[in-house]
Amino acid sequence: MPVSEIAGNEGTAARIASGIGELDRVLGGGLVPGSTVLIGGEPGIGKSTLLLQAAGGMAAAGSRVLYVSSEESAEQVRLRADRLGLAEQAELFVLSDTNLARIVEQTRRVSPSAVAIDSIQMVYLGDMAAPPGSVTQLRRCASDLVFLAKATGIAVVLVGHVTKDGQLAGPRLLEHVVDVVLGFEGDRSHAHRVVRAIKNRFGTTLEIGLFEMGGEGLAERPEGALGALAAGHASRPGSVVCPVVHGTRCMLVEVQALTATGFLGAAKRKASGVDSNRLAMLIAVLEQHAGMRLADRDVFASSVGGVRVAEPASDLALLLAIAGSERRRGLPTGTCAVGEVGLGGEVRAAAHFEQRLREAMRRGFACAIVPRESAGAGPSGISLIGVRDVGQALEHLSETPASL
Ligand SMILES: Nc1ncnc2c1ncn2[C@@H]1O[C@H](COP(=O)(O)OP(=O)(O)O)[C@@H](O)[C@H]1O
Ligand SMILES: [Mg+2]
Repeated sequence: MPVSEIAGNEGTAARIASGIGELDRVLGGGLVPGSTVLIGGEPGIGKSTLLLQAAGGMAAAGSRVLYVSSEESAEQVRLRADRLGLAEQAELFVLSDTNLARIVEQTRRVSPSAVAIDSIQMVYLGDMAAPPGSVTQLRRCASDLVFLAKATGIAVVLVGHVTKDGQLAGPRLLEHVVDVVLGFEGDRSHAHRVVRAIKNRFGTTLEIGLFEMGGEGLAERPEGALGALAAGHASRPGSVVCPVVHGTRCMLVEVQALTATGFLGAAKRKASGVDSNRLAMLIAVLEQHAGMRLADRDVFASSVGGVRVAEPASDLALLLAIAGSERRRGLPTGTCAVGEVGLGGEVRAAAHFEQRLREAMRRGFACAIVPRESAGAGPSGISLIGVRDVGQALEHLSETPASL
């Protein structure tokens, strides 16, 4: 068939939106009818909560949704729906079952726009000897559900548990069967959560969705974890704010570093939420081009709020955080940093420069340390300090009050 004769509105026309902007954006605008989505995440991270809220949102917008729980009773789901304020949704149907044949039959009977299976690991087909959660059961159940989606046009959402390192056989082996794979991440001891697309046949995988977990469920946090007063925080040694770009969006993220006494030859370098290769490179640049001796210093670096900071544009912020921690100096209050650092210690222009500075300005930052070549390019309203190399950048770190 010539490509021009194939109906082309799949993926753009009738997407089913959940009304949760942070989730819909990651999906590329909502669920595509007839597609299958897998949401992976550690147990207890909030997958059921997210899914029930999304189901409630779709039901509120008039799309019928069937939420199948294979782990909880219908009463438990009802209690959660009460807590999330979704108990009055007439188009939200709940089924508690683990037998896939019955689930498929009920789905065909209810005829929803979308069906959610929470979780795929607890579902089984009775005609197979293998236990629920085994590789054979998972493969068969998932492919049956993909077939159901394609045959009926119902969007299918599967929940899969993964272990801390994301390695459990289950969800991984389903990744190639489904159309979209979302990762739901976060630290159970913190409230922030991030939804990220790992694979998406209908959209970009650059977008992320930001949430905060609370008693009433997940609340959207489009601005990231940096509080409203971010710019007014007294600056701290080892902490620098950087505007980072994820997909179409720019947000401010705090990058932190800590240097401590280590052992020559066995100094630790730990990165969490920042790129470990760039961390190693920036330490070498500080050694070679700023005369800073870090060979026997442990260096820990992290991004705050669960947003991964891996862009070259965040080099300067991370470098200033490391140097600031080592020298116990911080940037002046209300100052952020943007720029790529080269191996020669030079500070280079970053992509999306204007977008980053506009966001910093909007969030109340009055000043930014930027590459010299970009210093004339920013929006008016934020003062730019151009630096040519790492040495010049370090001059802007100043002593901070002893009370900090
Ligand atoms: N009754 C409750 N009140 C407040 N928070 C709750 C309640 N029940 C669950 N939670 C929150 O939701 C989290 C579990 O979410 P859940 O959606 O069940 O996770 P998952 O499905 O990924 O295992 C808990 O860690 C807790 O933070
Ligand atoms: Mg659950």
